[in-house]
Amino acid sequence: MHKLSLQNMATGPSGPLQGRVRVPGDKSISHRSLIFGALCVGETRITGLLEGEDVLATAEAMRRLGAEVNRTGEGAWTVWGVGVGGLSEPVQALDFGNSGTGCRLVMGMVASHAITSTFIGDASLSKRPMGRVIGPLSEFGAHFQSRDGGRLPLTVTGPARAMPVVYRLPVASAQVKSAILLAGLNAPGETIVIEPEATRDHTERMLRACGATVHIEKDEEGANVIRLVGEPELKPCPIIVPGDPSSAAFPVVAALIIPGSEIVVEGIMLNPHRAGLYATLMEMGGDIEVMNQREEGGEPVADLRVRASALKGIEVPAERAPSMIDEYPVLAVAAAFAEGDTIMRGLAELRVKESDRLSATAAGLHANGVKVRELEDGLIVEGRAGAVSGGGHVATHLDHRIAMAFLVLGMAAGRGVTVDDSSMIATSFPEFVPLMQSLGARFV
Ligand code: S3P
Repeated sequence: MHKLSLQNMATGPSGPLQGRVRVPGDKSISHRSLIFGALCVGETRITGLLEGEDVLATAEAMRRLGAEVNRTGEGAWTVWGVGVGGLSEPVQALDFGNSGTGCRLVMGMVASHAITSTFIGDASLSKRPMGRVIGPLSEFGAHFQSRDGGRLPLTVTGPARAMPVVYRLPVASAQVKSAILLAGLNAPGETIVIEPEATRDHTERMLRACGATVHIEKDEEGANVIRLVGEPELKPCPIIVPGDPSSAAFPVVAALIIPGSEIVVEGIMLNPHRAGLYATLMEMGGDIEVMNQREEGGEPVADLRVRASALKGIEVPAERAPSMIDEYPVLAVAAAFAEGDTIMRGLAELRVKESDRLSATAAGLHANGVKVRELEDGLIVEGRAGAVSGGGHVATHLDHRIAMAFLVLGMAAGRGVTVDDSSMIATSFPEFVPLMQSLGARFV
């Protein structure tokens, strides 16, 4: 995971994109499939698992905690779980590479077990704040030792008997919510998470699917109050992982901004807490047809037909941010090709993702001739109505989504774009290059 040399990659102006593709499995659901598989009693069969580095790190962590995890075919995995309370103490450190999701969710999972585990990660993950999970997980009785400022490496020892917790989330974060719910599984009584702004609800859906009792209601201020009854026996059920809307964002935006394109992306999960980008692109005038709506693996799924469109700048409602939190870099690329300004606010969280995505996105746009104002918690992109010069060299700061967003920009701009390091793309979308090439994108 620790790279000695950077892998430059470049894209050039591409002809119209054409064809039909299927993106890999959703990253959030893939991590959770392995984690729930390990906490169920018996065998969980998973199909469509994302085989990216982040998810593979979680698979390895589950093995180190005592589960048997096997790959039986492409995207097909089985997990023999040890049950809630049954995790064994890992002999080696748990290495999450670049993955905040795997790291924070598994911290929750182990924090209420009477074992000691050490968490490590790459240079990006080692900069990210863990205090947001250390705080609530300490309330279960877990003891943490971390580097200054609550950073990795850290070691957590769970209590002999955990206490259930009531916690109001100070930031809109599905990772923090999920970490607390996972810890609550091995605590008696009810663990309650109060979520003022709704975030992705895959954990709640999967808890219920495995037989846990989860009640969700709104309080008088409109916050979600999520109550989990602790110490359930989780029962395995087959998991079909739907296509990742965050990965689909790259071919979808590319098709919108490359003149003459028309593509179909199949099987995209459109959970309402994940679909904000698609609503935004349609408001910008994007020609996106939602076809064949259905349910797969307990999630709403559809195929999207996307045609190149003359986009218009808009103000993106700040309250939509949690439903598209990973999509702002590629939305900023779409905004660069739109006519007029696109205003994006409510994005302070983007500063603590795999990179500081507000400054990395602003710098990447500047390098390619696009004017952008970086706010404390947002971006204002001055659209160039299709005429983006390109030709820039973009620093990716160990961030897969910065790399993919600017490679997409290079396909539609006047001149190609180079990113300094493409290696991180393998964390979430290992098939990115061949999939984009199959649609006609030009890598140089
Ligand atoms: C995720 C939650 C989000 C998102 C991440 C995946 C999850 O992070 O950015 O890529 O699977 O729960 P936050 O909870 O920090 O917003």
